Amino acid sequence: MELFKAEVYKKRRSQLKEKVNNGIILITGNSESSMSYPANTYKFRQDSSFLYYFGLNIPDYVGVIDIDNNKEIIFANDIDIDDIIWMGSQPSVKELSAKVGIEETHKFSDLFDFIKNNKNRKIHFFPPYRGNNKILLSKLLDIPISKLKEKASIELIKASVSLRSVKSDLEIAEIEKACEIGYKMHTTAMKMAKPGIVEQEIAGTIEGIALSYGNLISFPVILSQNGETLHNHHHNQILTEGRLLLVDCGAENKMNYCSDNTRTFPVGGKFSDKQKKVYETCLKANVECIKAIKPNVFYKDIHFLAAKIIVEGLKEIGIMKGNVDEAVKAGAHTLFMPHGLGHMMGLDVHDMEDYGEDFVGYDNEIKRSSEFGTAYLRLAKKLQPGFVLTVEPGIYFIPELISKFKNEGKYFEFVNYDLLEHEYLDFGGIRIEDDVLVTETGYRVLGKPIPKTVKDIEELMSK
Ligand code: GLY
Ligand code: MN
Repeated sequence: MELFKAEVYKKRRSQLKEKVNNGIILITGNSESSMSYPANTYKFRQDSSFLYYFGLNIPDYVGVIDIDNNKEIIFANDIDIDDIIWMGSQPSVKELSAKVGIEETHKFSDLFDFIKNNKNRKIHFFPPYRGNNKILLSKLLDIPISKLKEKASIELIKASVSLRSVKSDLEIAEIEKACEIGYKMHTTAMKMAKPGIVEQEIAGTIEGIALSYGNLISFPVILSQNGETLHNHHHNQILTEGRLLLVDCGAENKMNYCSDNTRTFPVGGKFSDKQKKVYETCLKANVECIKAIKPNVFYKDIHFLAAKIIVEGLKEIGIMKGNVDEAVKAGAHTLFMPHGLGHMMGLDVHDMEDYGEDFVGYDNEIKRSSEFGTAYLRLAKKLQPGFVLTVEPGIYFIPELISKFKNEGKYFEFVNYDLLEHEYLDFGGIRIEDDVLVTETGYRVLGKPIPKTVKDIEELMSK
């Protein structure tokens, strides 16, 4: 288990205490999760809030911060002789807790008395997302499971979002380690993408690369010749010359910081002229949106910059027509990019999404749109130095969406449906995604650059 120095966790907890101000903060770590019978478990993934404030990457730990009495406590059990026989020995809860600056520890069951003795005080907790923590919190706090989400502490969520959103240099270095693994995954996929190979062979190989560096993928690998399906987890097709392959994947480094990149490239290594034109448009959106990143800019405005560049490019190709600004205003771009430009990234690939997306990507200044497409924008608020986010424009040809919009009589002044239906229904989809740090003056793209120009991709694939 890799940890930062104890001071890092102490400082995070003291900042959290200051922001939440009073009451008790209760942060439940995760338990093992079973695959097919109780003892047969998935690889353990600790809760990200627990990792951030208490660091320990071990199941069945609960951290408590008693703000009013200035106490920090870990509730967990030492392992017994049976555990040692099957899993080896491990330092005591006391020793482990000391590594993250916690002196007071109690056995897990004491948590029930602790909460009972403090039941008249405000107890802050995050919305639980795993079944066992829902049951635990429901029992501890006597709140029905169905009400836990609404009873979660908004003060705690907002305080934690403000801390976790701004990454320290230590954290950025960890994210870059995850990006290094992502680089290897993506360049391996490019080299493997030859006609005749099955998608699953590549998906399995690149997942193995993530595992070989000590941790899991940051989300299930998206890898498909049907890139128009945004989160395509079916990897059963045989690669065919002439088609595009979309690969969206990332890794977690040893400290569970994430990477998330997407590349799209031609099976066999050569873009056709038709693919190149759409690809260059998507790439321009990726590059120009990255360049637009700096503090105090609304990410929603950068999202709409992508929309504009995509409409301009598609207009040049002849797929779209009419006035570009009016097309974007009307939402015609959502036929081709029905998702948001990006999201925050850190200990979670969609950072802190368990708190509720709107707490992370929106604030008092900006509310989520209910319009098709724009409603999927996870990050819209003003950027601050230290934010790490993804920039992931896409251009997709989704046959069902094309016929739906056409049947609804939508966007006839902006969309050339004839050309679309005759030439693009089997095109697939393109997405190009990078991970970017907002700096004091602008931006820095994280990780070693994964080839993304037509020239660089074709060069790598020809090797
Ligand atoms: N890369 C997957 C996602 O951002 O949803
Ligand atoms: Mn992403």
